[in-house]
Amino acid sequence: MKKIEDSQRQPEVGLTDSIRGFWSKNVNAERLMGRSVTSSERVEGTYFIDLAEQRYRSHRHLLPWIGDMMAGKTVLEIGCGVGLDCFEMAERGMKVTAIDLTEIAIETVKKRFQDNAMKGEFKIANAEEIPFPENHFDYVYSFGVLHHAADTRLCIDEVLRVVKPGGTIKTMLYHRHSLNEFLHRILRVPFEEEDELCPVVRRYTKDEARDMFSKFSTTNIKVEYLFGEGYGILFKLMPRFLYDIFSKHIGWHLMITATK
Ligand SMILES: C[S@@+](CC[C@H](N)C(=O)[O-])C[C@H]1O[C@@H](n2cnc3c(N)ncnc32)[C@H](O)[C@@H]1O
Repeated sequence: MKKIEDSQRQPEVGLTDSIRGFWSKNVNAERLMGRSVTSSERVEGTYFIDLAEQRYRSHRHLLPWIGDMMAGKTVLEIGCGVGLDCFEMAERGMKVTAIDLTEIAIETVKKRFQDNAMKGEFKIANAEEIPFPENHFDYVYSFGVLHHAADTRLCIDEVLRVVKPGGTIKTMLYHRHSLNEFLHRILRVPFEEEDELCPVVRRYTKDEARDMFSKFSTTNIKVEYLFGEGYGILFKLMPRFLYDIFSKHIGWHLMITATK
């Protein structure tokens, strides 16, 4: 299967099966630079604590972004993975529904919610065909997912359909004009895992992202995340103010907030 990198190409037949296969084997947030983030077994309490600790330490912009959403509102998370973010949302009083392409993700997040006696609805589903009626959710949230789908534009149309009028989508897509993209290209380091590559890893400019959300009434895009803990000593030693200045311009994450 050839890797799809640019933002325009049409999806191949069978691509979604390859994407599902990749994420079933490479459960997101479990590994960093080829090493396991936790020594605990999947679904043990300490497994989630270790993963969440690493995630929010490295992604400093993420908890404030999640915290912007209002308690008591409904949210659909698309591509929840092991559900670290939707667990945070539920703890903050949101009514959580989450979908993911893989069984392993949905089993894992379901178990965590059950073990903590928390409510949530979880389904294996494809963002290209969201199994909910139109105008259904106050928020749709999706972090680092839609750029991995076979047809990103179709997913965005589906998001537009299921979010309520006046409702909000918050999503992160990868940024092409970023330090990370530049370094990967000159050093020829592949994206995602080294041993097996995710079949689709699209990256967008701000203008391309804005164009994809043009059917929404407002779109706001911020750039964040110069790099994470994978950059080792650089991440630890770089002064915070410098990190923040560079992140705003050449960060890896396009943080998109759009209103229907
Ligand atoms: C990079 S991981 C991100 C997981 C989680 N959002 C996080 O930040 O840890 C991508 C996730 O999106 C899911 N995914 C990819 N394509 C999808 C699609 N078309 N519909 C639903 N989920 C999808 C994968 O199964 C995987 O769990």
